[in-house]
Amino acid sequence: MRKYTIILLITAFLFGCQTTNNSFNNKEIINKKVDSLINIMTLDEKIGQMNQYNGFWDVTGPSPKNGDAKIKYNNLKKGLVGSMLNVRGVSDITALQKIVVEETRLGIPLIIGNDVIHGYKTLSPIPLAEAASWDMEEIENSARVAALEASAAGTNWTFAPMVDISRDARWGRVMEGAGEDPYLGSLVAAARVRGFQGKDLSKHNTIAATAKHFAAYGFSESGRDYNTVDISKNTLYNVVFPPFIATVDEGVRTFMNSFNELNGIPATGNSFLQRDILKGEWNFDGFVISDWGSITEMIPHGYAKDKVHATELALKAGSDMDMESHLYVKKLKELVNSKKVDISLINDAVSRILRVKFELGLFDDPYRYLDAERERKIINHPDNHKAVLEMAKKSIVLLKNENQLLPFKKESTQKIALIGALANDNNSPLGNWRTSSDNNTAVTVLEGMKKYSNNNLIYRKGADVITNYSGVVGFAQKVKINENDKSGFDAARIAAKNSDVVVMVLGEDGFQSGEGRSRTEIDLPGVQQELLEEIYKVNKNIVLVLMNGRPLNIDWADKNIPSIVEAWQLGTQTGNAIAQVLYGDYNPSGKLPMSFPRSVGQIPIYYNYKNTGRPGPSKQVFWSHYNDESNTPLYPFGYGLSYTTFEYSNIKIESKTLKMNNSINVSVELKNTGKFKGKEVVQLYIRDRIASITRPVRELKGFEIIELEPGESKKVNFNISERLLRFYSANDLWEAEPGFFDIYIGSDSNANLHEFFELINF
Ligand code: NOJ
Repeated sequence: MRKYTIILLITAFLFGCQTTNNSFNNKEIINKKVDSLINIMTLDEKIGQMNQYNGFWDVTGPSPKNGDAKIKYNNLKKGLVGSMLNVRGVSDITALQKIVVEETRLGIPLIIGNDVIHGYKTLSPIPLAEAASWDMEEIENSARVAALEASAAGTNWTFAPMVDISRDARWGRVMEGAGEDPYLGSLVAAARVRGFQGKDLSKHNTIAATAKHFAAYGFSESGRDYNTVDISKNTLYNVVFPPFIATVDEGVRTFMNSFNELNGIPATGNSFLQRDILKGEWNFDGFVISDWGSITEMIPHGYAKDKVHATELALKAGSDMDMESHLYVKKLKELVNSKKVDISLINDAVSRILRVKFELGLFDDPYRYLDAERERKIINHPDNHKAVLEMAKKSIVLLKNENQLLPFKKESTQKIALIGALANDNNSPLGNWRTSSDNNTAVTVLEGMKKYSNNNLIYRKGADVITNYSGVVGFAQKVKINENDKSGFDAARIAAKNSDVVVMVLGEDGFQSGEGRSRTEIDLPGVQQELLEEIYKVNKNIVLVLMNGRPLNIDWADKNIPSIVEAWQLGTQTGNAIAQVLYGDYNPSGKLPMSFPRSVGQIPIYYNYKNTGRPGPSKQVFWSHYNDESNTPLYPFGYGLSYTTFEYSNIKIESKTLKMNNSINVSVELKNTGKFKGKEVVQLYIRDRIASITRPVRELKGFEIIELEPGESKKVNFNISERLLRFYSANDLWEAEPGFFDIYIGSDSNANLHEFFELINF
């Protein structure tokens, strides 16, 4: 404790004993404290702050050769480590914090980062699923729960939210984002930052968030992870940037750069992104962490000639902290001494890092997150389970429900066959990104449904999705798909034949999506499609429940199966959420945050495409289309049904002209025309007909979640202002250009109630 007291005394002496209890709002005081600390730090100590090590045991990426525990341990003692990742739990983190606080000269506390992506121990749905709820309060609350648990276990900082927009379902990491749309993606990104960081970062139950991966990682060519990104300025500004801007507006404290190159320059060495845009135009005063080993990776990218060069490029471009390249700690000093790197760049990076540490209250008390009693009480608290269950129910999307097969009647004697290995899987529903959670802790669909069944439920596996896992156990494990074993088919067939209705839970293993898990085919893996077709031969009353981390290609199922429920990977409470939806205790209200293609060949497929010069449809050959497939997706962005039905009518616009500094109202009448109380996400799309750069055929610009009783109607209003119409124009400005705009309101991105107005200059 001695060294740490010295730091406190120094800062208190210099700044009149002002405390930083509300440090998030006390930027000026913190900046002064940071400056005073920088003044007494040696170069080694400064570089140390810029070094982040992985914990000694657990990895979320390839281990660097020299990353052995002994070097790391010695460097910790020398004050050459500013942060650690993948260390979890009060006991382990206390041990590390003690080393730096008590044994280093200045006792600067570590900031502990972890991938708290959709929960810590108690898991929410994967982020893509959460985005399907379109419910910002619930998403914020889900991140809040994650922060409560993670902070109670000693984590100060999460590497979330991932705000990468992606239009490619082959990319394994679509599960970690909010889908294809910049508007929805921006709202979700902001909600997650609010949830993690809360209102006061210095509280022991809030954690710093990270906007990642800066930038354009979701546009990796052909959906192959880590692949090249080559996109236009238009796409970068109008599609990729908005969610990042939303996080900066929300006060996100850190950014992570990305593995990909962007238009020829690796993101980690990209000063346009990190210095000009992020720290310049956007005025971001937090710090940037590299992605895992991404500084070294600039060598194979063909951008840095060796490690020293990579170090120089990364620092100059604005990467403040080095995650597991081990280069800053090894090479920065020689770069400063040889005058290739100016000390002011190091001071700037260190200031940013220290600022966040001050804001977190780590200087007030480095052990404030380290209370074993709180850890015991908060982790897995029943309230957390309640919250993730709410989130899970809201994330489910009803894709099809012919003949009202759903919801099941609760007291009925209807015989139900439950089929599919995923129905009895307590691991896959946790997804792949659950490094802090315990394996096999999800409530299974079988368990969930049993709570409703009157001994009329029979379970048969049918077929395994995978045969086994291989490689490193845990986050990095690989799956081997079951391509042959159909030995369970017969038993499943018999059960289906003897039942009134069949629930089939099919989809992806939890480790088929996520980092490094791209696919070229996105159909039901292994023998599951065959199983589905075999069961269909004996019983057509099938409810298909999908479990997956990305949009799947389910064209056959859509043509043949009467009811389809998209249940993603819903986390710890999966089985309860699905059962409550199947039995009507929760009326599904989710809407797809990503288009589902009819075939992989349509990818990238997204609703906000450009019209082209030959939009068609035409009877001729020469228009923009496929000869063997329609242009449209199987299920469009924004799509999702309810057990009830909704009717839209009476679109009304207040005025056909909008002045630049004014706003106009557009309204629509929504009626619940079905038999159930239900929620509908009323969506507003706008098209900018002519502009200095071509604009999408429509863009989401607003939505409202409306709950109605059967027979009830409501007028839903949207306010349209010039601000809503802005885009990054050919003039290199965020501006709205005068001209005509179309409005569409409805239940998905095919919404067809239409109005229009003209934006005028005065
Ligand atoms: C690599 C991933 O790209 C990043 O998102 C993650 O936060 C780090 N590994 C740390 O695990």
